[in-house]
Amino acid sequence: MSHAEDHEGTRRDFLYYATAGAGAVTAGAAIWPLVDQMNPSADVQALSSIRVDVSGLDAGTQLTVKWLGKPVFIRRRTPEEIEAARAVDPADLPDNAARNENLGEADGADENRSMDEAGEWLVQIGVCTHLGCVPLNNAGDYVLDSGVGGWFCPCHGSHYDTSGRIRKGPAPENLPIPVAEFVDETTIKLG
Ligand code: FES
Repeated sequence: MSHAEDHEGTRRDFLYYATAGAGAVTAGAAIWPLVDQMNPSADVQALSSIRVDVSGLDAGTQLTVKWLGKPVFIRRRTPEEIEAARAVDPADLPDNAARNENLGEADGADENRSMDEAGEWLVQIGVCTHLGCVPLNNAGDYVLDSGVGGWFCPCHGSHYDTSGRIRKGPAPENLPIPVAEFVDETTIKLG
């Protein structure tokens, strides 16, 4: 495969994950083939921040973006998902911690995990805190009657609720929330 083909393939793969932030994505794709030959710290630095266009995301769906080598779940929640997440008393959680890099110490209340006050947006690293598998979306014991919500990791059966909090199974912690913010109405910046 020529270098040009390799470059193009990388670009397509990246666009598959992130339909968005065309400028940032293009820049990232251009950098990837180069950083392959450089040390890991340069790799991390090159992709330490990306922008994702979330304008096409409907309620009840999520976009998975690859960032810093890990899947990031960007979910737009339905009112039912938010309601279910907020009905839980944090004291009853197996892991009563927000695990949110945007906050200091905070309990596991959904309000401490969602991006916006209304709770519509939830951004999490999609890596199970047990052994690192990628949990399935809309699966497990916390799927709502509407058929959406929650995550399930089939390797040893970890169930995460509609806030990405561990509720059942061997995973010790809630799905972690990375540094993230809206930079305009439809763009989320990771990192
Ligand atoms: S990695 Fe998730 S239950 Fe094992």
